[in-house]
Amino acid sequence: MKLKGRTAIVTGAGRGIGKAMAGRLAADGASVVVADIAQYDVAAAELAKSGARALGLRVDVSSESDTASMAAETIKAFGRIDILVNCAAMFAAVKIGPFEEIPADEWKRLLEINVLGVALCCKAVTPHMRRQRSGRIINLASGAPLKGVPYFLHYIASKGAVIAMTRGLARELGKDGITVNAIAPGLTVSDGTAGRPEHLRNHADSIRSRAIQREEHPEDLVGAVSFLAGDDCAFMTGQTLVVDGGSAML
Ligand SMILES: NC(=O)c1ccc[n+]([C@@H]2O[C@H](COP(=O)([O-])OP(=O)(O)OC[C@H]3O[C@@H](n4cnc5c(N)ncnc54)[C@H](O)[C@@H]3O)[C@@H](O)[C@H]2O)c1
Repeated sequence: MKLKGRTAIVTGAGRGIGKAMAGRLAADGASVVVADIAQYDVAAAELAKSGARALGLRVDVSSESDTASMAAETIKAFGRIDILVNCAAMFAAVKIGPFEEIPADEWKRLLEINVLGVALCCKAVTPHMRRQRSGRIINLASGAPLKGVPYFLHYIASKGAVIAMTRGLARELGKDGITVNAIAPGLTVSDGTAGRPEHLRNHADSIRSRAIQREEHPEDLVGAVSFLAGDDCAFMTGQTLVVDGGSAML
């Protein structure tokens, strides 16, 4: 219960990796806000059933009014914001294909969610973390920009931007006692990818590229989020933790 008394917001926690991370932070003792455009209420109810303090909120991370009310509702319910996990993204819904075929509107919408959405969520929670003089921001990046994975150029660009924002924001917020780190998963069998076979088209190659040659599941990522959210991570910021069984090595 190392996070007892702390409050975590996990965006994109309605399903998949975000949901698993929310579950781990709750098991560590945190009160958890599930912020998503879908299944936020079901996921929060499941957490509450397991004994956690949980709140489900409908939040579109690309909307500034939604992210502002996410922070306000969290304060109203739990009185503080200690941890923000930026997991929401346009990912499983992305069509795989050559970059010339990605419509400009899809580029714009994806960057609005995956890049601007991260910035808006950080902006909404920062005043509260600054007041507390402590905070943990954890961004979901990806191994894709590290390895140059083809056929979703807008997505890999967005995750490269997440790594860059993690570094820049870490320098802006260090003086306030707020750490900013990223987790870069490999191809993970999540609720999203399991329903989209084209995402798993090169799954065997992905597995072969790993030092530990097996599938990656959301549960493989929860230890990293627990570490980055806790006191043991007080002097580590601006970093990207690659959790992919040893495929990309920094
Ligand atoms: N699964 C993988 O192979 C993999 C690999 C590397 C990185 N990641 C990253 O991990 C995170 C989670 O991945 P996943 O596989 O669980 O993805 P997913 O697509 O299954 O889930 C994404 C979640 O984000 C929510 N979401 C989408 N748009 C939103 C918006 N505008 N506002 C709020 N919520 C929104 C969805 O409703 C969903 O619950 C993402 O950031 C993804 O880019 C995933």
